[in-house]
Amino acid sequence: MAAFNVERITHVHHWNDTLFSFKTTRDQSLRYKNGQFVMIGLQVNGKPLMRAYSIASANYEEELEFFSIKVADGPLTSILQKVQVGDEILISKKPTGTLVHDDLLPGKNLYLLSSGTGLAPFLSIIRDPETYERFEKVIVVHGTRYVSELAYQDLILNELPNHEFFQELGIQEKLVYYPTVTREDFHTQGRVTTAIESGQLFEKIGLPRFNRETDRAMLCGSPAFLKDVAALLDEHGLKESPRMGEMGDYVIERAFVEK
Ligand code: A2P
Repeated sequence: MAAFNVERITHVHHWNDTLFSFKTTRDQSLRYKNGQFVMIGLQVNGKPLMRAYSIASANYEEELEFFSIKVADGPLTSILQKVQVGDEILISKKPTGTLVHDDLLPGKNLYLLSSGTGLAPFLSIIRDPETYERFEKVIVVHGTRYVSELAYQDLILNELPNHEFFQELGIQEKLVYYPTVTREDFHTQGRVTTAIESGQLFEKIGLPRFNRETDRAMLCGSPAFLKDVAALLDEHGLKESPRMGEMGDYVIERAFVEK
């Protein structure tokens, strides 16, 4: 049996020259936990060329959604960025990954810390009702180089908070957004790590600094981002989940799409 399903592109949205999102059909038998990733790809020279992509859609949605960079000479993304509605795409049958609720100890505040397209799994997590049942505050922290890379602001700032079902779960008080940009003017500037170290993040969102008693985190971004953010969490006494299936104060996704 093939390791992947052949699906079709149903929607493509280009955010700017470097980022795009797309939706695909979903095989009825594909089950996943919000925050997990799958391998997706295309047939290139008769062979499947596959990369790990976080699923941005929630697991109750009919279609799958992905958020991708475009790299001119990237083996997959140079081709993938040209897909059109109706094109075929390969999607692995076995989602997996570490950014799942099950591996976090109960807590009060959930920090979703991302850089670049590392935001993707958190788009699934913030569309998951369980997130608001388990936590009092859900803080989406997204660091990018440029303002145009702050994708999905409308979902985070308007669509979800105005959704009746999520309103009943208290999303308007619970969901907090902290975007920050490093290479051009924006109302919040600087790296995520700098905002944590200086305390600017906590001041802005009105919460105390990281504290093991109350805070849990999920991390997704570049390897350097993950290393530096994890070091800061460690300094504050938080403990990483040792492995998939074991609970901790924070979890890290280390599977990446090509750069
Ligand atoms: P910077 O512009 O200072 O490099 P990238 O596209 O390279 O993954 O970067 C996405 C965002 O993450 C950028 O704002 C970048 O800042 C930031 N970044 C890169 N490395 C780190 C790191 N080690 N810690 C925190 N933020 C980082």
